[in-house]
Amino acid sequence: MSEPPIDPGAFRGLMARWATGVTVVTAHHAGRDAGLTVNAFLSVSLRPPSVLVSLMHDVDTLPVIAASGTFAVNVLAADQRALSERFARTVASEEKFRGVGVHRGPDRLPLLDGTLGAIVCRTAATVPQFDHRLLVGEVVRQELGREAPPLLFYRSSYVEPDPDGRVTLPRSGRP
Ligand SMILES: Cc1cc2nc3c(=O)[nH]c(=O)nc-3n(C[C@H](O)[C@H](O)[C@H](O)COP(=O)(O)O)c2cc1C
Repeated sequence: MSEPPIDPGAFRGLMARWATGVTVVTAHHAGRDAGLTVNAFLSVSLRPPSVLVSLMHDVDTLPVIAASGTFAVNVLAADQRALSERFARTVASEEKFRGVGVHRGPDRLPLLDGTLGAIVCRTAATVPQFDHRLLVGEVVRQELGREAPPLLFYRSSYVEPDPDGRVTLPRSGRP
C-alpha cells in the first residue's frame, strides 16, 4: 500500500474527535509515589481482567512502575478536573501528591480518594512502540468508588457533565 505520509497535526485533529474518560496512573517504589494523567487507557480482556495504558517513554512515572512491577489506574469523576491538571504537570512527584487525599492499596500503591474507582495491576507485559510504552496490566484488585458522572476529554478540552450527567460539548470549529 503506497499512501502519502500523514501529517501529525492532522492526525491529532482527528484523534481529538475521539472522546475519552480521564485517569491518573499511580505507582509506588522504595518510599516514593509517582503518578500522571492518562487518557490512553482501555480494557483488554475479561478473562483474566486486564487493561492497557500507553505512556510516553520519558515520563517520570515509568521507572517507578518498572521497578515495582505494579501500577494503579484511578478513574476521575467530573468534579476532579483539578487532579487531572495537577498530575499532568511536569513537576516533582512529591509536588503532585502534596495535599492530595490518598489511601493505600497493595504494596503501598497510592489510590486517589473520591474517584469513580481504582484498578490495581501487576504489569503483565511492556511493549516499547515508537515514542511510547504500552503497559498491559493484569488486574489484581479493584475498588468501586463514588457513583458520579465521569470527567471527559474531547477536542483537547475537558468536559465536565453536571451532577445529573448532562453534557455540553465544546463548540465545533475546534480541531
Ligand atoms: C487529558 C490528558 C491526558 C494525557 N494522557 C496521557 C497518556 O495517555 N500517556 C502519557 O504518557 N501522557 C499523557 N498525558 C501527559 C502526562 O500526564 C504528562 O506528560 C505528565 O506530566 C507526565 O508526568 P511524569 O513525567 O511525572 O510521569 C496526558 C495529559 C492530559 C492533560
